[in-house]
Amino acid sequence: MKKIVIAIDGYSACGKSTTAREVASILGYRYIDSGAMYRAVTLFFLDKHISLTNPKEIERTLEQIHLAFHVNAHGTTELFMNGINVEKSIRKMRVSENVSPVSTLKEVRHAMVAQQRKLGKDKGIVMDGRDIGTVVFPQAELKLFLTADIQVRAFRRQQELLEKDKLVDFHTIIANLTDRDRIDSNRKESPLIKASDAIEMNTTHITIDEQVDEVVRLAVGKIVRRS
Ligand code: DC
Repeated sequence: MKKIVIAIDGYSACGKSTTAREVASILGYRYIDSGAMYRAVTLFFLDKHISLTNPKEIERTLEQIHLAFHVNAHGTTELFMNGINVEKSIRKMRVSENVSPVSTLKEVRHAMVAQQRKLGKDKGIVMDGRDIGTVVFPQAELKLFLTADIQVRAFRRQQELLEKDKLVDFHTIIANLTDRDRIDSNRKESPLIKASDAIEMNTTHITIDEQVDEVVRLAVGKIVRRS
């Protein structure tokens, strides 16, 4: 059976990652969280106190970062940076608060997009992010653009953090999501916009299971048509 590329873009905390992971698992596809890559770069820049205004230093630093996704014993994909599992550290508020400015950098985007394209060259991949359907895989067979009410998104993000034993104030989360939406949507390099051929899904009133079922239904339609 022919394999396809599924691109899931949208605002922060709309359920993109959860949906993408589940859909990939059902279809037996690879799941790639492109946001995790930008988060890892941000973590590295923060730890090494890299200036965001020096392109040469940014380029030199990017050469020192090696990113790789590995599937753990539970079947979950985790990101390793220079051989270290960074899944936990990249989800901290310190990274969330700095990731959007780092993601605006042309050098960072070019390096990440090149790696993402390599990961998808054999298809059979579900990738979520902000520019997957517009820049990384403009030829993706299935493109989704997820949106949801800001209160619902903040509540879901708060629950996610609570599951990791982190209590973050609701207003801090709203402020972070709003700020990231604004920076992600207005940056010069590959801003967050809906691809003209993407299917928009408002997830405010639907459950993750319903979201997953719908994406799988659409994907199977595309796969059958291609086979
Ligand atoms: O998906 P996420 O919330 O973990 O992503 C974190 C940040 O990374 C997001 O605010 C913007 C950036 N990002 C991006 O610029 N392009 C992508 N394809 C994915 C994420």
